[in-house]
Amino acid sequence: MGADLWAAMATRLKFRSPSGGRLPHSDVQTPGDPKDHEKLLFVWASLIGGNSRVEMTVAITGGSGAVYPYRFLNHLAAEPAVSRIYVVASSSGIRVLNEELELRSLTLNNLAEKIVESGREKIEVLNNNDIGAKIASGSFPVDAMVVIPCTMGTLGAIANGVSRDLIQRAADVTLKERRKLLLVIRDTPFNLIHIENMRLVTLAGGVIFPAVPSFYHRPASINDAIDQFLYRIMLQLGLQPSKAYRWQGSKVE
Ligand SMILES: Cc1cc2nc3c(=O)[nH]c(=O)nc-3n(C[C@H](O)[C@H](O)[C@H](O)COP(=O)(O)O)c2cc1C
Repeated sequence: MGADLWAAMATRLKFRSPSGGRLPHSDVQTPGDPKDHEKLLFVWASLIGGNSRVEMTVAITGGSGAVYPYRFLNHLAAEPAVSRIYVVASSSGIRVLNEELELRSLTLNNLAEKIVESGREKIEVLNNNDIGAKIASGSFPVDAMVVIPCTMGTLGAIANGVSRDLIQRAADVTLKERRKLLLVIRDTPFNLIHIENMRLVTLAGGVIFPAVPSFYHRPASINDAIDQFLYRIMLQLGLQPSKAYRWQGSKVE
């Protein structure tokens, strides 16, 4: 089979796979893998059916930076490759959204309506107390989970497998199923407990993705800086946000 065809198939495998939705790097395998026949069937079916859809969980905890989940949800909902977004927020997350976005009356029930402009139909809001929700089980295929922002408290709970609410349980499931978990942590400075918890999550396969925007693309505004940071998250998830800045290299004078 030609290299180009394998490359095309690998691109399709970025998204939903028969293995239940792991992201590309773990799914792309070389010819000869025992599961090739299953994957080939899936690839051909998806090439014919145009089924390249991503489902993901977005969890919002009570860290500062409500603008991150606000803009991230809007970018994800507008992204054609994303078909479903499960949103779950902690009570502190709802509180900080209200405080920082100056909304006051945002609740779980009106969250999508209040903060998502288009593509709202892709969003399903889940209750953080509902530890029986679909994303609480590894048998339910979700491609990835992003906790944005992720407090030090939730980081600690995830790092130690506490699983006392839906966010913590879904993150635990994401790790055990070897799916992609990104924690957009937000605090400064860090104590040793935070650092140890980040180490544990990293060892378990999670990605610590600190809320640290870059400036090498010369942002024209705070929103511009934030958006480029959010596009970096989307790139990590295998998405291709069209407005993502790509460094082209620079020359030393
Ligand atoms: C306005 C506000 C901003 C906060 N910012 C942070 C923060 O940036 N990082 C953090 O770890 N906790 C922050 N906290 C504290 C957490 O919200 C608090 O520890 C909470 O219990 C975390 O619960 P959760 O992880 O379930 O959302 C903030 C609280 C408030 C009210």
